[in-house]
Amino acid sequence: MRILLLGSGGREHAIAWKLVQSQKCTGLFIAPGNAGTALCGKNVPIDISAWDALADFVIRESVDMVVAGPEEPLVRGVADYFAGQEALKHVLFVGPGAAGAKLEGSKDFAKAFMARNEIPTAAYRSFTRETFDEAVAFLKSLTPPYVIKADGLAAGKGVIIIESLTEAIEVLKEMLYDKKFGDASNTVVIEEFLEGVEMSVFVLTDGKGYCMLPAAKDYKRIGEGDTGANTGGMGAVSPVPFASSELMARIEKQVIVPTIEGLINENIPYCGFIFFGLMIVDGQPYVIEYNVRLGDPEAEAIIPRIDSDLTAMLEAACKGQISDCMPQISSRHAATVILASGGYPNAFDKGFAIKNLEQVKDSLVFYAGVEEKDNHLCTSGGRVMAITSLAENLEDALTLSLNNARQIDFKGKYFRRDIGKDLLH
Ligand code: AMP
Ligand code: GLY
Repeated sequence: MRILLLGSGGREHAIAWKLVQSQKCTGLFIAPGNAGTALCGKNVPIDISAWDALADFVIRESVDMVVAGPEEPLVRGVADYFAGQEALKHVLFVGPGAAGAKLEGSKDFAKAFMARNEIPTAAYRSFTRETFDEAVAFLKSLTPPYVIKADGLAAGKGVIIIESLTEAIEVLKEMLYDKKFGDASNTVVIEEFLEGVEMSVFVLTDGKGYCMLPAAKDYKRIGEGDTGANTGGMGAVSPVPFASSELMARIEKQVIVPTIEGLINENIPYCGFIFFGLMIVDGQPYVIEYNVRLGDPEAEAIIPRIDSDLTAMLEAACKGQISDCMPQISSRHAATVILASGGYPNAFDKGFAIKNLEQVKDSLVFYAGVEEKDNHLCTSGGRVMAITSLAENLEDALTLSLNNARQIDFKGKYFRRDIGKDLLH
């Protein structure tokens, strides 16, 4: 099986690392990839929005399966594009078409889907410019904090949570009138604030059945103690210690099964990952968001815990045989710590040499913003790399990752020292 993986982050390095361990994988290409994916397969310099160029490459290189890493091309319909071309019809594609990707691409759609399928989520209403006055009245009827979300994709920044009503109304104006998030905020969702603990659950589905992947908890804020600005994620742990088998059973019954059944009942074909962002309130799961891909850095924590052959699992999903898959999941704990560029998630400098990588012991290192220049690795993004360690318990896994996080060096290096600490007793 010759595979083309789309994307260029730490998640894609982790996916690539796992795919090539399979005997089924006879060739791996990554478009455009990064210095880490180059260690697993061959990077090809094609932009993932250049679909014709991707299609030409797939035909020329006899690629059998395309795997989408990030959501953006899925939301724009790359899977439909591949399915619609005569010369590409035989190519397996991991990632939903635009109809399924709307679960992530439109929060308004996702909320209505959950309402139709009785999937627990925060109470909400959607508004546009035309209904601005009603939106203000709705805000006034809620108790703070106020949760306001841009409907469309906003690079993870489209959710605003604020205490003050005056500021909430201001945000509403900025989103609806000043296009704060471009067209993504033409519609906004205002929802009830849920107080609880968050966790992320992942499945691989063929649109009829599904298999569970390891669950994870990620750490989104830049500062220790979950303070400061939101980021793409500063670390993750898997498994989630508080996710008892009872809670997991409840999540399957109340969230996962109705989601898959909802897709079936609404005639939405779906082959790929579903990432359920959950808030657990008094032991009850509520869906905060759907994503149609793996998370980053959650992928770097969960993939090393999958002992089964991921290439075979993805092939099974594409062929409608996912229900036959019983993935073996390691009982070991994974702890992932992100090394970021100083200043991230705001402005940061890049191009700094990365040193001491050869001193890393007993951890996996997945590259995100890493570039090779004149035979040297240097920083090229906000999140630079993910350090993942596996151990019999969370504490040992964290210790290994933190030791290596201290060891690796580049100018301005920043990492959170408290990843997973809230889960230790
Ligand atoms: P999202 O991009 O939808 O995952 O939202 C980003 C973050 O905002 C989530 O990870 C939660 O921490 C928080 N959040 C979103 N919706 C709610 C809600 N209804 N109640 C409380 N927190 C929320
Ligand atoms: N870490 C959260 C995400 O990938 O959306």
